[in-house]
Amino acid sequence: MILYSINKMFTLNVLEKIFFLLIIGLVALSCDQFNKKEDNSVDELITSAILLDQLNPSLYDCSGTNWNFEAFLDSGPRTVCTQCHNDIARTQGLVITDYSLVRNRVVPGNPTGSLLYIKITEGNMRAYATSSIQRGAYCWIRAGAQN
Ligand code: HEC
Repeated sequence: MILYSINKMFTLNVLEKIFFLLIIGLVALSCDQFNKKEDNSVDELITSAILLDQLNPSLYDCSGTNWNFEAFLDSGPRTVCTQCHNDIARTQGLVITDYSLVRNRVVPGNPTGSLLYIKITEGNMRAYATSSIQRGAYCWIRAGAQN
């Protein structure tokens, strides 16, 4: 293919040569764009998942609060869940005030697919969760589970 292309170059007139080089350039550029896309694909997937989830009607009214990790903790976990999920007991390896340990148990943008939310709504942690904590977890995860 390459040999054929080089051979072909010599048989073309000037205009054709310019056109030929332009096509090669365009192909190379689109390959480059494609590679760049590959690098960002995980980030883009997460963003699309969050955006897609935002199209679903929210189970709770999440308006009026900047749903960062502190806002989630303020909804109740800081006082209730720390009885067991604190820095000393570390029940099930979970410290509720540790962002990365909590972040490991959620899928950003998808509350109902997140272990944390499932545990406090359908699972055995429901016994400790107030409706404020359930809402806090939902809204925080839905907003992207940011720190
Ligand atoms: C009285 C102690 C106690 C309290 C209070 C408590 N938990 Fe738990 N939690 C546990 C135990 C024990 C486990 C492990 C057994 C299980 O998974 O059911 C657990 C497991 C979990 C898990 C699963 C972790 C994993 O990686 O498997 C999550 C998430 C969780 N708790 C969240 C919470 C939240 C949120 C609160 C507050 C609303 C809370 N827990 C309150 C004792 C407690």
